[in-house]
Amino acid sequence: MAEMVYCENLVKIYKTRETEVVALQGLDLSIEQGELMAIIGNSGSGKSTLLNMIGGLDRPSAGTLLVDGKDLLKFSERDYVRYKRDTVGFVWQNNARNLIPYMTAMENVQLPMVLVNSKQRAQRARELLELVGLSQRRNSRLSQMSGGEQQRVAIAISLANSPKLVLADEPTGSVDTRTADIVLDLLRDVNRQLGVTIMIVTHDLSLSRKVDRIVAIRDGRTSSEFLRKRSYIEEIRDVATYAHEAGDDSHVELAVVDGTGRLQIPHEYLDEMGVKGKAKLRVEMQDGKVVIYKPQDDDVEGMRGGAIVP
Ligand SMILES: Nc1ncnc2c1ncn2[C@@H]1O[C@H](COP(=O)(O)OP(=O)(O)OP(=O)(O)O)[C@@H](O)[C@H]1O
Ligand SMILES: [Mg+2]
Repeated sequence: MAEMVYCENLVKIYKTRETEVVALQGLDLSIEQGELMAIIGNSGSGKSTLLNMIGGLDRPSAGTLLVDGKDLLKFSERDYVRYKRDTVGFVWQNNARNLIPYMTAMENVQLPMVLVNSKQRAQRARELLELVGLSQRRNSRLSQMSGGEQQRVAIAISLANSPKLVLADEPTGSVDTRTADIVLDLLRDVNRQLGVTIMIVTHDLSLSRKVDRIVAIRDGRTSSEFLRKRSYIEEIRDVATYAHEAGDDSHVELAVVDGTGRLQIPHEYLDEMGVKGKAKLRVEMQDGKVVIYKPQDDDVEGMRGGAIVP
């Protein structure tokens, strides 16, 4: 399958007069065409920065960033304008960034469609509002809609120009859990029906159980990946046993090794091994497995209590 997003050694440094913040420190990531995936990570780990780079809202400082085969580091200002209009669609946590409250759903959805005539615009807006389940509310003003309905309008808007990639930054951040579920189900339907690639940024590992792949970022770097063990269909058929959270049962965790062989070991493992801060750990190859030993005073005794990294 073709790649929709390819980042290699991506770096973003925010410079102010006094300080420099390295928000992305050589991040590697690739996303296939048609994938529905989530980026998770703590506050400040660089999730929004990554999305802003991929969405063409800001420029990377260094590295490689290809989207749909286009090299964003070589873009002119004009390329960026065209790219933001034609290739990507955005859904934000904060509705004020997506929507104009005193306009109706129909009017809002037509706003981004600057290149088509009014008849086509209205037709497409009707189709999109039907897709998100809001045909009945299409002439309501946004200010008269619930938070969940507004997020559905926001999804319709993000699709207005038939983007190849939809970027959603905490799309469920300001709605309750039930509404969040509906919004995520809708993103999944859109992904399945239209084949559009979708990247969702969230803090919440439990919300990300609806996606096929979760990539965790830590300190501006990809740290681990979780791949769905069973298909989503299998999982919803199996509702009786569907009581688990993502990250334990539904996904397998993969640690990511970058091009130079650096690996981030999950924090839980380090805690269990009693490793705090920088440490030197003994590493050995055993029957095709890499074994990392718990630090011990006596190095020979260190053979006991090793942790195995899959
Ligand atoms: N415009 C900016 N100028 C300076 N520093 C910035 C800017 N934007 C982000 N940063 C810094 O870059 C780092 C990554 O921020 P980012 O917003 O990408 O994190 P995040 O993972 O999206 O966090 P959250 O979950 O809180 O939204 C943080 O240390 C942040 O303070
Ligand atoms: Mg953010």
